Amino acid sequence: MASFISRSVEETIAFARARAAALQPNDVVALCGDLGAGKTHFVKGLVAGCGSDEPVTSPTFTLLHEYRGGRLPVFHFDFYRIAQRAEIEQLGFDELLNEGGVAVIEWADRFPELLPSRTRWIWISATSEGERFVAENE
Ligand SMILES: Nc1ncnc2c1ncn2[C@@H]1O[C@H](COP(=O)(O)OP(=O)(O)OP(=O)(O)O)[C@@H](O)[C@H]1O
Ligand SMILES: [Mg+2]
Repeated sequence: MASFISRSVEETIAFARARAAALQPNDVVALCGDLGAGKTHFVKGLVAGCGSDEPVTSPTFTLLHEYRGGRLPVFHFDFYRIAQRAEIEQLGFDELLNEGGVAVIEWADRFPELLPSRTRWIWISATSEGERFVAENE
């Protein structure tokens, strides 16, 4: 388990931006953590690190945002409001995982059975007001 302590929003973004350098086509990154843990800020860094300068916002209502123009496209999902797995399947989730981009999923632990075995799991938890503990499976 690799882990990191972030002491600011900027450190979380910088960590994710650096992490993005190792990403390959069809990689899947699952983000877990409570409301306000920092998942969307992590995605901001990941998207920047993949080379897109598009602004990142939470796809809480639209369920999926795509960021292009960089080294790799990023497909950003949020499972928070999804009640049934059929809603995810209708988005074309399985196909998007194999389109040569990077898939990053907030609240992925709501439907872990939909994620492939190659998924990298990242947990973010608040340890104090400005501090976050970030851990990734090996
Ligand atoms: N070290 C830190 N890293 C990231 N965010 C931090 C940090 N310290 C404080 N914060 C604050 O925590 C909040 C994180 O918000 P963010 O939208 O990224 O969370 P989230 O996990 O995506 O939440 P949600 O479950 O609602 O999607 C922001 O208000 C941010 O300012
Ligand atoms: Mg979010």
